[in-house]
Amino acid sequence: MNPLAVQLNRLTLQNPILVASGTFGYAKEMTAYVDFAKLGGIIPKTVTPQPRPGNPPPRTVETASGLLNSIGLDNDGFDQFVAEKLPYLAGLRTSVIVNIAAKTNDEFRRMATVLNAAEGVAAVELNISCPNVSGGVDFGTNPELAADVVRTVCDAGDLPVIAKLTPNVTSVVPIAQAVADAGADAVSLINTFQGMAINWKKRRPVLGNVLGGLSGPAIKPLALRIVWQVAQAAQIPIIGVGGIQCIDDVMEFIVAGASAIQVGTANFYDPGLANRLVDELTDVVAQEKVESLTDLVGTLQISRAQ
Ligand code: FUM
Repeated sequence: MNPLAVQLNRLTLQNPILVASGTFGYAKEMTAYVDFAKLGGIIPKTVTPQPRPGNPPPRTVETASGLLNSIGLDNDGFDQFVAEKLPYLAGLRTSVIVNIAAKTNDEFRRMATVLNAAEGVAAVELNISCPNVSGGVDFGTNPELAADVVRTVCDAGDLPVIAKLTPNVTSVVPIAQAVADAGADAVSLINTFQGMAINWKKRRPVLGNVLGGLSGPAIKPLALRIVWQVAQAAQIPIIGVGGIQCIDDVMEFIVAGASAIQVGTANFYDPGLANRLVDELTDVVAQEKVESLTDLVGTLQISRAQ
């Protein structure tokens, strides 16, 4: 038995360490730094039906313990992805989870249909949560719209479906439950928090698009809170993401209720981290004297004063 294996409904991963969309390019860029075969899976940068030039620069700025980005889903479009990026990704000895975004259900259906027919795709992650484009985030802030997209993609074939949700709502719980009821296999919690940076001397925002999405260690407590809240209230496996940069961070997400995690911003400054975490998880399983890492999922104990 593989003690790190993870089952997210229809999706099986050899271990729970994934690399987050938008932080790992299309994998080829990371060849020199990462042993892909050791990872639980790779989630390449979001692809959209048509090519997108992205938002005006500057597109990134460092903040205290964080990174604010407003890339704007810059990508060469779905057809180019399938023709030129997917063949390479499909040849890697790890699970490839293709992340897609679109403005309509029909566009989601078209891409999902093609991915279902393609070789080497383990699952689809729906980016219904990008804070940097108009249209995209709307799906993720409304339970009915989010459920519709999930249903549409589930109907397009048998590939497991993961919904990546936004934290920029009053509560993520009803949205997570809605996508679970619509057939999603898992939710990725969470995408970035909308924020801004200001150069007050110039009286100007720093980012060309004014607002951006905050990621990195600064958001870890917020991500943990949402993972825990959703784990308490919704019936769906959770992939935790937000500021993970060491094994203790991983285990905090696991005991809070995540079955798997994504390393995101840390890939930019510590690209070997995801590989190391896999080794360190094996040590945790031994030290905690459990048969499987899944025995530790959601084991947080809360004792409240009477
Ligand atoms: O702007 C971006 O490309 C970011 C995407 C995301 O956070 O989903």
